[in-house]
Amino acid sequence: MIIAIDGPAGSGKSAVAKQLAADLGFAYLDTGAMYRAVACRALDLQVNLDDTSALAHIASHEPIAFAYNDGSSSPSQVFIGGIDVTSQIRSAQTEVVVSQVAAVAAVREALVTQQRQIGLLRDTVIEGRDIGTVVFPHAEVKVFLTASAEVRAARRLAQNRLRQNQDQQAAQGTTAPASHKHPVAQTTAAAPSHPFDQQQTLEQIMRRDRLDSERAVSPLTQASDSIVIDTDSLSIRQVCARIAELVRRERSVVDEPPSTANQTNARATHISQPPSVHPPDNG
Ligand code: DC
Repeated sequence: MIIAIDGPAGSGKSAVAKQLAADLGFAYLDTGAMYRAVACRALDLQVNLDDTSALAHIASHEPIAFAYNDGSSSPSQVFIGGIDVTSQIRSAQTEVVVSQVAAVAAVREALVTQQRQIGLLRDTVIEGRDIGTVVFPHAEVKVFLTASAEVRAARRLAQNRLRQNQDQQAAQGTTAPASHKHPVAQTTAAAPSHPFDQQQTLEQIMRRDRLDSERAVSPLTQASDSIVIDTDSLSIRQVCARIAELVRRERSVVDEPPSTANQTNARATHISQPPSVHPPDNG
């Protein structure tokens, strides 16, 4: 089964998808981490971000891999072309350039291919922007999470603080964390000078929303058959409970004897087939 979770930055996708995967014993795939990994590699190689062929070359020639601790459904490390970019994918520099990298059609095509391959291996909760629309349009459960920009900015601030603490702990007794090692990005956009400033964080979230929703290729849109959940006043547990209920309903439809429901046959057939693997909509 594929559970597709889409939504804008800060809508709670990652926390919900990780928790849900752990609850259900599914794998968890963070497709944003894949776009971030390509962006990191481009920064490391000092690639001009307008050079779409160079970006596409990275995405199609440097495979992304995730490493897991025993028994965990969420990865502990992310690699691209064998290089560990776990900390770097969350750096401020990556944050600034990733939307531009994610807007390149050939980058998306290469990553969508990898996402489908990973998702077909086992039951998976996949989070991103285009999972229900492009990557797995036949996902059995499709959810679109929303939240107000203010709530999303507050969540991002809390995340930044948590990461800073983790970085500080990592730095004690060891070298500086990898998240600080980027050369200056070849981009006109600046990283926020104060990652803990509420107004700047809000502006950054709104800028990302704009870039992700207005891009020509696979923009962030809600699939017509997805269930919208507004997470403004819901806890992670409450959101997971709602999605788990959708999963239960989906399973009961599939398990129902064919004679009892008109739509059962179509749904069951659909579930037994792998999702179609056509290239993403580049229009
Ligand atoms: O979810 P995130 O913030 O880690 O995503 C990073 C960037 O990648 C963001 O600009 C949106 C983009 N993205 C995308 O275009 N498609 C996806 N399936 C996942 C992320």
